[in-house]
Amino acid sequence: MPSPPQVGELTPPNRTLMGPGPTEVHPRVLRAMGTPLLGYLDPAFVEIMDEVQALLRYAFRTDNDWTLPISGTGSAAMETAFGNLVEPGETVLVPSNGYFGGRMGKMARRAGGEVVTVDAPWGEPLDAADVADAFDAHQPDVFGFVHAETSTGVRQPDVPALVDIAHEHDAYAIVDCVTSLGGVEFRADEWNVDAAYSCSQKCLSCPPGASPVTFSDRAREKVLAREESSGSWYLDVAEIMAYWGEERSYHHTAPTTNVYALREGLRLVAEEGIEHRWDRHRRMAGALRAGVEAMGVDPVADESYWLPSLTTVRVPGGVDDAAVGDYLLDAYDLEIGGGLGDLAGEVFRLGCMGYSARPANVAFLLSALGDALDRQGATVDVGAGMAAMRDRLAE
Ligand SMILES: Cc1ncc(COP(=O)(O)O)c(C=O)c1O
Repeated sequence: MPSPPQVGELTPPNRTLMGPGPTEVHPRVLRAMGTPLLGYLDPAFVEIMDEVQALLRYAFRTDNDWTLPISGTGSAAMETAFGNLVEPGETVLVPSNGYFGGRMGKMARRAGGEVVTVDAPWGEPLDAADVADAFDAHQPDVFGFVHAETSTGVRQPDVPALVDIAHEHDAYAIVDCVTSLGGVEFRADEWNVDAAYSCSQKCLSCPPGASPVTFSDRAREKVLAREESSGSWYLDVAEIMAYWGEERSYHHTAPTTNVYALREGLRLVAEEGIEHRWDRHRRMAGALRAGVEAMGVDPVADESYWLPSLTTVRVPGGVDDAAVGDYLLDAYDLEIGGGLGDLAGEVFRLGCMGYSARPANVAFLLSALGDALDRQGATVDVGAGMAAMRDRLAE
């Protein structure tokens, strides 16, 4: 039998997290996580659950009854949306212009769906005309798309237009707002979204582990009318609502500390005001974008569909992207993201989310990235970048 491993005290390096997530956790969230645990049906915990749901409705801009955190990361929330809304044999339309659209297809297939795609190049949003053509060609029952594609830094600019196409065809629209909720404008009710899901570790600046979802009343009716229960017992939202809804009966033990964290993260959203928060992300990330451009590095996404929470920039010619990432970690304790999928090796992904979306972090990231690129032999004007950033912050 193994003897006790000699493992030292936990001392992770203190990184500045400016990649695709997780982001830095707000100190108030960390404090909330140090508070005592409660039983999952303790009246004090039930009150906390009610508060979390009310705060989530505020962040999603919705009155949906079925609004709750799923125990797990964003992918668990994603699987809750697809696993419950897709019934075996249904046709599901998903996008091909990013990594997470691809994951939607995998989940829809596991839920028994026939998957068809609507195409756009990586680095560009879906075109509404292509979505309409895909509906005419395939008559899908469910259409999933990504509001904030973390692999490309692209924001799908006109969510209501795409949702309307789905509704004109009597289909359901599932929207991924993993990298936008709490940081980039998202309005579940006004945009008539049927189901949306997110995570806690990006614009909400919480640790991963309790991931928001919301289902409209129309979506709830579809789930409740299913002929067969969804394939996953754990992620069956109708079963989970027995715990998060009025019945308050045991389904699974809530991840107490993650629920506390989410409550505090969402309280910070409510205190700041959701529209001010969207505006802060635009201003901070706008300064970052202006800074990298002035430095001589090209953003991937056009301004009209740029995603403030995640700016993707081209790796300058001759630069080894992995070496830049390693240098930033070693020399500066700073994390950024590299490219994924079709953009692997071609881009850096610069996050500017939640608590990390503040002037100190933007200035630090710009100067450190400038240094790293300069050491790799790229022609960058770090001074011009810093000046452009400062001008934008002063606006
Ligand atoms: C757009 C998008 N969807 C889904 C996910 C999956 O979330 P998680 O990694 O928290 O499971 C991510 C993760 O980065 C994401 O960016």
